[in-house]
Amino acid sequence: MLFFFLMKNMLKHLIAAAQRAPSGDNCQPFKFKIENETTMSIWHSDQMAMHFFNVCNSASYISLGMVLETIIIEATGFNFETHYDFINSTEKDQEFACWARVHFTKKSDVKFDPLVGTYYGRWTSRMKYENAQLPKEMYDELVLQCKIASTDISIYHAKPTDKDFISYLKTSELYLWKYSQAARDFLKMVRISDSNKSETRNGIKLAELHLNLFEAFLLKMMMRCPLLIPFFYHAGLKKVTQLLAQKNYFNSAGLVIFCTPRSEIFETSLINTGRTSMRAWLYLNANGYAVQPNTLASLMPFQFENNKIPTSVDITDRNFLGTAADLMKTYFKISNNEHLVWALRIGKSKDKNNYVRSSRFKLEDVIKK
Ligand SMILES: Cc1cc2nc3c(=O)[nH]c(=O)nc-3n(C[C@H](O)[C@H](O)[C@H](O)COP(=O)(O)O)c2cc1C
Repeated sequence: MLFFFLMKNMLKHLIAAAQRAPSGDNCQPFKFKIENETTMSIWHSDQMAMHFFNVCNSASYISLGMVLETIIIEATGFNFETHYDFINSTEKDQEFACWARVHFTKKSDVKFDPLVGTYYGRWTSRMKYENAQLPKEMYDELVLQCKIASTDISIYHAKPTDKDFISYLKTSELYLWKYSQAARDFLKMVRISDSNKSETRNGIKLAELHLNLFEAFLLKMMMRCPLLIPFFYHAGLKKVTQLLAQKNYFNSAGLVIFCTPRSEIFETSLINTGRTSMRAWLYLNANGYAVQPNTLASLMPFQFENNKIPTSVDITDRNFLGTAADLMKTYFKISNNEHLVWALRIGKSKDKNNYVRSSRFKLEDVIKK
């Protein structure tokens, strides 16, 4: 009885920690079910995760990896070893499908993970960073930390300043606004009104975007009238987006990128990338470095190589994404048998006091009955 009580409390702690893991636009598509004292399952809602860029749930699989890694790390704090099975089945309960079953085993020799507790201080920083470098010894430690999650994933760090590379970053950022459906999917997750900002919801608060007054005004106009998106795009949004992408990149310590063996299956590549990048993110934040995913420049080329690109992406952009792999290979010296999956922009945070904590659903709302 006492064991069951203690286990239930531990599982609740693990779920609360897993809830703080990142998800695309903070859509929080997962629920958790406590199956018995030593097992929980993780359920995913396609509907909550539906997004122009989340083709075949590619972004959700990265999130799943991040959720799993958080649970694995935190469980070591209770001397539990964690194993999980990824479930690629159609086991469904209403809108949620079972994606993973996680088992816990008590052991006396479990190694306490140095990242225990760091989930609480992890965040996405979309502001400009200081132009500091990532010291070599920190990068080496980062790689060691990442390898704990998966030895299959390679991690590279660089800040290429070549014209072609900058143009690649700038162009890929445009897809958010160029494809109206992408913009609509993003805008529906931005929270502006007071009730929307409550601490118990999904989505992104306006303050998390660090926009200036003019940019915030533009955003609100587009939220009110999505038909204006193409007009704004051609009237100046395109230029502003490119300038911002360039400015943010130059004011950073560059990108940390995650690559997977080409032979690996789609879902495993993404889950392992999620697990690995979660460790990198936690480690960087805990050591004073800020992180922002650079999804459009990285996940889209990966989707393209896997024939999983949104059908409405036009031929010019398809050709462009096709060349992205070669570009990355050159600039990051990726080996021939690997390909890029995801990238994080990193750097020293300029103004930590500006940090706005992202919201989450209430714990009781994500525990499945
Ligand atoms: C798969 C994935 C893709 C993401 N892509 C971006 C992105 O392109 N740009 C960005 O600013 N944040 C991106 N994020 C970060 C989320 O928006 C962020 O995690 C979420 O809003 C919660 O905020 P938090 O990380 O501060 O807790 C991504 C997160 C995930 C898991």
